Amino acid sequence: MNLSTLAANAPKAELHLHIEGSFEPELMFEMARRNGVKLPFASVEEIRAAYDFSNLQEFLDIYYQGMSVLLCEQDFYDLTWAYLTHAAADHVIHTEIFFDPQGHTERGVEFADVIGGISRALGDAKDQLGISSKLIMCFLRHLPEEDALATWNAAQPFLSMIDGVGLDSSEVGHPPSKFKKVFAKAKAAGLQLVAHAGEEGPPEYVWEALNELQVDRIDHGNRSLEDDKLVAHLAKASMCLTVCPLSNLKLCVVDDMREHPIRNMLESGLLAMINSDDPSYFGGYVNANYAAVIEALDLNRSEVETLLRNSFIGAFMDDAAKAQALSKLDAYLSGV
Ligand code: ADE
Ligand code: ZN
Repeated sequence: MNLSTLAANAPKAELHLHIEGSFEPELMFEMARRNGVKLPFASVEEIRAAYDFSNLQEFLDIYYQGMSVLLCEQDFYDLTWAYLTHAAADHVIHTEIFFDPQGHTERGVEFADVIGGISRALGDAKDQLGISSKLIMCFLRHLPEEDALATWNAAQPFLSMIDGVGLDSSEVGHPPSKFKKVFAKAKAAGLQLVAHAGEEGPPEYVWEALNELQVDRIDHGNRSLEDDKLVAHLAKASMCLTVCPLSNLKLCVVDDMREHPIRNMLESGLLAMINSDDPSYFGGYVNANYAAVIEALDLNRSEVETLLRNSFIGAFMDDAAKAQALSKLDAYLSGV
């Protein structure tokens, strides 16, 4: 069997997915119409044509503009449900979703409506699609830590719906250490911790995420490979890196998919796995990301199996759920 097909049909987890980055232009237009919001684009085609980025910031500018049509609880439900139906089609059986509350509350949207709509869709996905999930609240790192602390306070009534906190948005100039206080609070509350690091920022930012924030996972982590000591440390700690190949290509973190570092990561003993990041903006959901690296790098079967296994090993599932998911994957792999 062709390895892209093998990966496509395999049960898998996705651990790096911004729900606002799954907003397809068709749904964006429909929501803009029903909410009476004007988008600065005349058509779906015009929106897609604007998805041509030369760095992270160019993407973020359009990403924040897109989310401006999300206003009420049902909008967040519809957005999340649309992603979950794509995930189900890609045989995702467990997903860990990021959301950016500050992108909404700063526009006057209620925190309760944001988290309420997302959580209701995640509950329905468990019942109707058999997809389990975790929810990770991200802080926007281009804003001051005081804003992140205010968001942490606003989240207190909803902590039972939140499994972890993360750090995203413009990386360079906003090191992880800027968010030490708010991450310490989240750790004290028993939440899981993740941070985007080493996407555009230097290896020092990955060290800071580990040592100053005490993260449980690194999102992206590509530039870790520039520091041998860091690679050895990440490998020894079995620190999961949530890698996003199509995102890396679209945001010019790599110039060509044939230069993508995923094989180097595996050969260096890193616990790397594959994700879609912002699938609507970067040209594909998780299976398209597997296919892109399998084809460009001619990955072998053992490498593909490792990536699939790592998707569950790096997840924040409890031990029993993780063991069950891994045996489901092993059963699949032994039959193909
Ligand atoms: N927000 C959404 N996608 C992101 C990415 N790839 N890096 C940083 N912030 C993001
Ligand atoms: Zn991301």
